[in-house]
Amino acid sequence: MRTPLVLGNWKMHGSQAFARGLAESVRARSGEFPGVRLGVCPPYVMLPIIAKALDGSSVAYGAQNVSEFAEGAYTGEISAGMLKELGCSYALVGHSERRQLFAETSDQVVQKLVAAYGAGLIPVLCVGETLAERQAEATGRVIEAQLQPLLSHPEADRLLAALIIAYEPVWAIGTGQTASPEQAQEVHGDIRRLIRARAPVAADELLILYGGSVKPGNAVELFAMPDIDGGLIGGAALKAEDFCAIAAAAAASKRS
Ligand code: 13P
Repeated sequence: MRTPLVLGNWKMHGSQAFARGLAESVRARSGEFPGVRLGVCPPYVMLPIIAKALDGSSVAYGAQNVSEFAEGAYTGEISAGMLKELGCSYALVGHSERRQLFAETSDQVVQKLVAAYGAGLIPVLCVGETLAERQAEATGRVIEAQLQPLLSHPEADRLLAALIIAYEPVWAIGTGQTASPEQAQEVHGDIRRLIRARAPVAADELLILYGGSVKPGNAVELFAMPDIDGGLIGGAALKAEDFCAIAAAAAASKRS
């Protein structure tokens, strides 16, 4: 039985005051969604204020990125140990914006994942194809290539039992163009099959989140799909009301 997760990715938005207010609003309503885990990923510098705002609540928090290195002369980087010390539960790795805008490779992303796991964080590995790749019918191949460094890692069994995967089609991110429930389910099912071939037990327990223009109006249908275990929410996570409506959709769709 997989407990759905609704995780907000705030990206590079807001201010300290905004972050505190948003976290407090989510916290205030967090008891309304039985059987759903909630989390938020604010910008790094807002983590201390979020830690305070969510202290003692069931709402977890995490970072949007993490260094692959443990410590050293890596100007501008933040280590997994530093995030753990701030009370983070999650670290996103390999978000498509990091891959596209900051040239992160799938090998590097797995190094980040291993660093996060090693520090006791739950890595959230993001994968997804571009519009051109989908149109070229290369979606399956692209996702498999993104997962390959993980699947061939010597510690793959252990890593696969400890991480979360987020399928985020690049063409659906911030565009208002959501993948249909069927399109998303097809990829989620393929991801779970790929993982099953390597780690059969972990595959059934693995959370696979969908991300890309999830809104209150489309969340129920998406979350009703058998291999969609919650969402990674961008724009709609910046409004407590929308984020909570999406959490309610997760609670409703997984109840039966
Ligand atoms: P949107 O929900 O704004 O499309 O963003 C999705 C996303 O990138 C979450 O990581």
